[in-house]
Amino acid sequence: MSISPPVLEVQSNGYCVSTDQDRLDFDVIHGFLRESYWSRGIPRHVVETAARHSLCFGVYKGADQASNAQVGYSRVITDYATFAYLADVFIVADHRGQGLGKWMMATIKGHPALQAIRHWVLFTADAHGLYAQFGFAPDEASADWLMTWRDPAYAALIAG
Ligand SMILES: CC(C)(COP(=O)(O)OP(=O)(O)OC[C@H]1O[C@@H](n2cnc3c(N)ncnc32)[C@H](O)[C@@H]1OP(=O)(O)O)[C@@H](O)C(=O)NCCC(=O)NCCS
Repeated sequence: MSISPPVLEVQSNGYCVSTDQDRLDFDVIHGFLRESYWSRGIPRHVVETAARHSLCFGVYKGADQASNAQVGYSRVITDYATFAYLADVFIVADHRGQGLGKWMMATIKGHPALQAIRHWVLFTADAHGLYAQFGFAPDEASADWLMTWRDPAYAALIAG
């Protein structure tokens, strides 16, 4: 039996953080991610598949669902029991610097379905100071973490 936690929504100062998959705006999400340093050129169908199989956190301007202007996003890949990988974290440029990134992070780390997680991991090039405020630190035992990846990540998909 797979787990699908109930939708979580919190509001503050005219913004909303929501885990409702139906509110996700893939024009905004793909528009940002295809230009990001970590997923440049990512095809839209990959963004949509990844989101549909993740616990996604959207940040929206306007408390009511009707406006639904998405200004931030992140997703958690998790088994809801032991492990969580945080990915694709962003706030759109016009809405940065007012605490939305930290609020989204606090909502993620406080999510009721993620409280038993033993290992949280993420990759970042330069936002260490943001994540440090939520307990993330470089892994001193990094030689014990093994990984493999495809580089460039999306060239074959784009060519195909
Ligand atoms: C990183 C990002 C999500 C932060 O969102 P934000 O709403 O502007 O952030 P906040 O206003 O909540 O504050 C961010 C905090 O993290 C700190 N920080 C550390 N590194 C940072 C960085 N590279 N970018 C932004 N903030 C950073 C800030 O100093 C601030 O801490 P403070 O309030 O104690 O001074 C946003 O800048 C963004 O989308 N950047 C582009 C995408 C990106 O780099 N994502 C992270 C990939 S791992």
